[in-house]
Amino acid sequence: MPDYTAYCKEYITNFCYFYINNYFERNFIMYQRTKYDMRQELNLIRESGLFKDERVILSDQKANINVIYPDGSTPREVLNFCSNNYLGLANNSEMIKAAHETLDKYGFGLASVRFICGTQDIHKKLEDRIANFYETDDAILYSSCYDANGGVFEAITHQDDAIITDKLNHASIIDGIRLSKAKRFIYEHNNMQSLEQKLILAREGEDIWEHTGLAAEPHPARNILIVTDGVFSMDGDIANLKEIVRLANKYDAMVLVDDSHATGFFGKTGRGAIEYCGVLGEIDIITSTLGKAMGGASGGFTAGKREIIQLLRQRSRPYLFSNSLAPVIVGASVAAFDLLEKSNDLREKLMENTRHFRNSMTKIGFDIIESVHPIVPILFRKFEHDAHLAASTAKDLYEEGIYVVGFSYPVVPKGQARIRVQISAAHSKEDIEKCVSAFEKVGKKLNVI
Ligand SMILES: Cc1ncc(COP(=O)(O)O)c(C=O)c1O
Repeated sequence: MPDYTAYCKEYITNFCYFYINNYFERNFIMYQRTKYDMRQELNLIRESGLFKDERVILSDQKANINVIYPDGSTPREVLNFCSNNYLGLANNSEMIKAAHETLDKYGFGLASVRFICGTQDIHKKLEDRIANFYETDDAILYSSCYDANGGVFEAITHQDDAIITDKLNHASIIDGIRLSKAKRFIYEHNNMQSLEQKLILAREGEDIWEHTGLAAEPHPARNILIVTDGVFSMDGDIANLKEIVRLANKYDAMVLVDDSHATGFFGKTGRGAIEYCGVLGEIDIITSTLGKAMGGASGGFTAGKREIIQLLRQRSRPYLFSNSLAPVIVGASVAAFDLLEKSNDLREKLMENTRHFRNSMTKIGFDIIESVHPIVPILFRKFEHDAHLAASTAKDLYEEGIYVVGFSYPVVPKGQARIRVQISAAHSKEDIEKCVSAFEKVGKKLNVI
């Protein structure tokens, strides 16, 4: 007769051994290894001065905010000079009213993607509004501009196509292009000669140069797409869109502009860098955000030719596989477009504040990148320890009640450490003057001016 007791004992022992071993391996040994690797990586980030602390704000987003920093300290009121709240709409009473009304009428969420049951009449209304604003055929909404850029290149380009992209384009463009099978060319930042060289390469068939000796046939690109930010967020400089459009016409290419740092406030009527450069109606694809000047909550869009937008509705993965934009954001965004079309006051105030700040900072001797945009980079390139100086200046400014952030390598090129100041229509003249005086005091103390 078989010894069932011994059999059961062996079975249970093996089971326990296996289970404990597995548990130990997974929860202790394996995690110990992962934990070690991750701590090493975090230490590297800290040592290179790139660890990003989050400062906790206790108030709504506006010019003067209530902040806890460093962690555990008493909250203090500081003037905010580092948000993308260009027009001050983040706490605008008409926007908040529209948000409340939309919330009451359309509810909190849609629990669906657009093509199943996530499209309300207000989504269509906002898309029409955006298309009219940019004088394009149609527009499509996304949860963010990151998603708009993430979902455009793969959907509209093929392996026979070429994408030619500015070296300093935003991370979301870089990531979006990575998803496409098209050949990628990178041109030097805002350098039209470099762009033209890449256009020639793409048109003639770059394979001649890449695979010499392999008898590869020239493989000219079928369609070419030039991609650029309208305004570059680290320098506040503006893409040379007039020349980009001219080159695109010469080489039969399309143009995509991400106008996130210009939509709503830049150009005569707020139609962005596209309007500022005089190419409204000539850009094939525009991507932008609702998360900066247009109220600052979240949301993004792509506007352009009918077929392009139709194709995006069929193929763009962040649109097809991610939730509809929340009704409350859609309703408030329609109100933002209403506000901008009614009056130029906020735009004019922003531009006046920008001029005042730029002139005053230049007058007291700071080294700023020349432009007309409310992104004002204060550079420390004349100094050996530029990164250290940018960080110390930002820290001392906080003590003076001015909230700004320093950026250094590798976020910006070596020797180009900076404080990026962002001006808003929410700032009063006194706020601007207080900021300039604080810079002057700290700049003199640290021998920067
Ligand atoms: C040029 C540019 N494109 C896209 C984005 C992403 O926008 P969103 O916050 O809507 O994802 C940003 C935001 O920083 C940006 O500066």
